[in-house]
Amino acid sequence: MPDLSTTYLGLKLKNPLVVSASPLSKRVETVQRLEEAGASAVVMYSLFEEQVTFETRQLDHFVERSANHHAEALSYFPNMPFYNFGASTYLTHLENVKKAVSIPVIGSLNGVSSGGWLDYARKIEAAGADALELNIYYLPTDPKISSQTLEENYVELVYSVRSSLKIPLAVKLSPFFTALPYMARRFTEAGANGLVLFNRFYQPDFDLENLSVVPNLELSTPQELRLPLRWIAMLYGRIQADFALTGGVHSAQDVVKAMMAGASVTMLASELLANGVGRLKTILANLEHWLVAYEYDSISQMKGSMSQLHCAEPSAFERANYMRALTTFDHQLF
Ligand SMILES: Cc1cc2nc3c(=O)[nH]c(=O)nc-3n(C[C@H](O)[C@H](O)[C@H](O)COP(=O)(O)O)c2cc1C
Repeated sequence: MPDLSTTYLGLKLKNPLVVSASPLSKRVETVQRLEEAGASAVVMYSLFEEQVTFETRQLDHFVERSANHHAEALSYFPNMPFYNFGASTYLTHLENVKKAVSIPVIGSLNGVSSGGWLDYARKIEAAGADALELNIYYLPTDPKISSQTLEENYVELVYSVRSSLKIPLAVKLSPFFTALPYMARRFTEAGANGLVLFNRFYQPDFDLENLSVVPNLELSTPQELRLPLRWIAMLYGRIQADFALTGGVHSAQDVVKAMMAGASVTMLASELLANGVGRLKTILANLEHWLVAYEYDSISQMKGSMSQLHCAEPSAFERANYMRALTTFDHQLF
């Protein structure tokens, strides 16, 4: 029997299949089923900065008895309690999940600014979370704000969260940085113990009949694996952090690829949302079969084996691959 165990954020996990932040953690009973199916840890759905500030503003409104001058801005946001009940209830739910399962439970905070809402990092820790995932999801639209200004803010945010916590911290980041390795280094220097690659940006569509913008959430496809796979392979060993791969993990082979790139864990959402919690059991069994068939004794034996750690010039290697891909396609056609 191969050893599937791995270590992520200092947590000893029985295998590399972690449930990604998603509605899969909304019900205690589902988390119990995920544990039974073999999940080694679960990341809770996110508590959003807007949700915390919304509650605070509601409180202010009652205290001051003034008109809600934030009404316009707040009207953009969905009915947050519908997704995750509300900030204070999030903590109670986290406590209940924690009591109901023995696998590690990772809390998730989703926001962009430093400020009072960050108290919730400590509250999530106090509620029993084994680690915290900080999701920095922000789409800058102001042409006057430079990437440097934004990046300093992100680093400051990571630093403030790190300083308020004892539990390990992971940062879930976007792939859209001009110098991703630089940012990965800055985040780890600011105290992130792990990096979760990547945040998935949802592109809304236009409804031409109603002339409205419609939020559009499509579940991932296995092709999406390639972006985080490539980046983890490039960062592994160069950045002192654990890597979690999220995005496009649908099969045992995807998990093997992630491990070979250098990930400590894979995180799954779409596959389980589409095909049910039971899929975890199948992926786990297939993973074990794969290791046996290819004569691996353990997951750790394959970790980083396909990374670019020993490649002197990863940028030149990437460029050569890019050129090869374009030119060989030409040759096949003509
Ligand atoms: C319905 C849904 C809800 C999600 N909610 C969150 C969330 O609250 N916080 C977060 O960090 N990621 C959230 N995600 C992103 C997932 O955690 C994951 O990173 C992404 O779906 C890519 O993984 P996948 O290919 O396995 O789906 C959500 C994804 C889906 C599909």
